[in-house]
Amino acid sequence: MMQWKKRILVTGGAGFIGSHMVRLLVNKYADYLIVNLDKLTYAGNLENLKDVEDAANYSFVKADICDSDAISEVFEKFQITDVIHLAAESHVDRSIEGPKDFVLANVMGTVNLLHVAKDVWEGGDHVFHHVSTDEVYGSLGDEGLFEETTAYDPRSPYSASKASSDHFVRAYYHTYGLPIKISNCSNNYGSHQFPEKLIPLMINNIVHKKPLPIYGTGENVRDWLWVVDHVQAIDRIFHEGRVGESYNIGGLNEWTNLDLVRYLCRILDEKLGREAGENEKLITFVKDRAGHDKRYAIDATKIENELNWTPSVTFEEGLASTVEWYLNNTDWIEQITSGAYKQYYEEMYHNR
Ligand code: NAD
Ligand code: DAU
Repeated sequence: MMQWKKRILVTGGAGFIGSHMVRLLVNKYADYLIVNLDKLTYAGNLENLKDVEDAANYSFVKADICDSDAISEVFEKFQITDVIHLAAESHVDRSIEGPKDFVLANVMGTVNLLHVAKDVWEGGDHVFHHVSTDEVYGSLGDEGLFEETTAYDPRSPYSASKASSDHFVRAYYHTYGLPIKISNCSNNYGSHQFPEKLIPLMINNIVHKKPLPIYGTGENVRDWLWVVDHVQAIDRIFHEGRVGESYNIGGLNEWTNLDLVRYLCRILDEKLGREAGENEKLITFVKDRAGHDKRYAIDATKIENELNWTPSVTFEEGLASTVEWYLNNTDWIEQITSGAYKQYYEEMYHNR
């Protein structure tokens, strides 16, 4: 086996954030082997990685993180030295429809990975980086920010499963000394995001002049971060963060859903050559999400001070490049909304 400096297992690398993570690592670290392990659920798409799939330092394995034998084989075959764990069921609405899949993938899958890593790594220089979410902290009122010390208070089946996985990751650190790091990030946006999530869903619907479904009153607040800034933060934490620690990642970029959708409407009025205000007419208020968390907002002081990380783009820049990507990659969206992924996309769309 070639003398790679690190042999990193990235789980969920065919998904939205995972594909950006793999791209960053493959391009930035020619002396690392990057092994992408993904089950290729409805959300996993190898098209996301076309630009790096032939790289000498990249391998793909189709497997389920719940399959202990498959995970052990991958650790053995590639002599895995580190893990960046992103594989998960990630969509809150789906977790409301069917929580058990979330427990399986997010809790059992994570415990499986932790256990194999614990059994295989004996001492030495390893990192198990667990990618988590700000949703574990629950919901904020009008004031305040989530800090790393904020008590966990998950409220959706998705966030409960992610909180549980975070607890297991910490348990493996305290009980077995597994060298773990955790990051909790706010809402991501960018290219290659499955169009069930707010921003790509709205862009696609605006393009096709379909209704823009706003849950409830649209006053819920999310803190948006460009996906490339998220994976750069993970890279920083993975290499320089302290073992056993959690780091919040966010952009101090709060938007109500309604203001954000109106903003997208205005950008696309211009881009698509429509009259000012034309796209806004598509906004349709629909039944609220059950247990809809009111507001998320991240205090990222720890990663800024300790690791000198801050977002590299403004929201205006990041969103403009994201809109541009979706407009220039209609084949990618088409594949999802009318190809192999059609059933899953429509399931979500019709459930509204
Ligand atoms: P995604 O749904 O786009 O991708 C998830 C990937 O995991 C897919 O490729 C899927 O095939 C794979 N996967 C799912 N179950 C698997 C299993 N059992 N075994 C192997 N692979 C499996 O998700 P995303 O939005 O890219 O999120 C990635 C991670 O980041 C998740 O852990 C999520 O909780 C976390 N996160 C997401 C956001 C966000 O805004 N999207 C924010 C903070 C944290
Ligand atoms: O905060 C981080 C989390 O952000 C991640 O952990 C999750 O994996 C990710 O899916 C995301 O969760 P949200 O539930 O915040 O994202 P979503 O895109 O589903 O919704 C964003 C907001 O928009 C939320 O308040 C619900 C609302 N919404 C969403 C959709 C899909 C609508 O009003 N209409 C919609 O059609």
